[in-house]
Amino acid sequence: MKINIRIPATSANLGAGFDALGLALTYYNYVEMEESDRVDISSADGAEIPTDERNLIYVSAKDLFEVCGKRLDGLRLRQTNAIPMARGLGSSSACIVAGLIGANTLLGSPLTTDDLVDLAAQIEGHPDNTAPALLGGIVTAVFDGRRVHWVKQEVYTKLKFVAIIPDFELKTEDARACLPKEIPHRDAVYNLSRAALFSASLLTGKFENLRTAVHDKLHQPYRMELIPRCREVFDIAYTHGAYGVYISGAGPTVMAIVDEENEFFAGKMRFSLTNAGLSGWSVHEFHIDNEGTKLI
Ligand code: HSE
Repeated sequence: MKINIRIPATSANLGAGFDALGLALTYYNYVEMEESDRVDISSADGAEIPTDERNLIYVSAKDLFEVCGKRLDGLRLRQTNAIPMARGLGSSSACIVAGLIGANTLLGSPLTTDDLVDLAAQIEGHPDNTAPALLGGIVTAVFDGRRVHWVKQEVYTKLKFVAIIPDFELKTEDARACLPKEIPHRDAVYNLSRAALFSASLLTGKFENLRTAVHDKLHQPYRMELIPRCREVFDIAYTHGAYGVYISGAGPTVMAIVDEENEFFAGKMRFSLTNAGLSGWSVHEFHIDNEGTKLI
């Protein structure tokens, strides 16, 4: 049996919703998966990927087989990786989800969607990329360590999500290591009120709230120190009319939420970035993907 899987990129946190909010983007990795008695992994586009048993798609597929009481001795995988690695766009979650959906399909779909959401979060450690990668839309998720309690909402808005991606990587591990262990009560209130405001405003079309809603005190102020000239990129995006700007996931990508009618936003961004000597940052326009991972 040979299957083809399409998995969306994801943008997590959405400002204040650290480890809780995420959405899927119209930007995809593709994986061809076939049963095999040996590990045969290759890249269809020349991207550097692990081709042995440490490959995250393979590891995740093996985990699912184990949960189902089966042994996995090999797989043939052919990956097309559009989503850049270590940029805050859910590349590792895309691998985990590809492995789980692929393996579940090969076994005749013994696990439910809920099971897959839970397993993906257990492998990744947090649910805000894995859940929207699986489900699509915007996902609100609470991970209690074993299970994910989630709501997926489809979003049909006149918004585009413009990813401003730098030419350097930031590993999630390092971007989590810089965060404080404790925060004051008032900062917790600051964040939870904004995270709630973000979802409600996005879903009801009250986009003028987004600029306030994307602020947070849990991660962005610390991560900005790891992303050279990040504040300037924020400023430029606001100058060109973004509703809200936030660090996508653990960074270093900066995400601008922009009105569809702001037709030349990307062009203006590119021009200003180049003028500011920030030509290492590239600008890509996406929309929300409401479908999640699917077999094609
Ligand atoms: N919520 C996660 C973080 C997303 O900010 O560390 C990145 O994987």
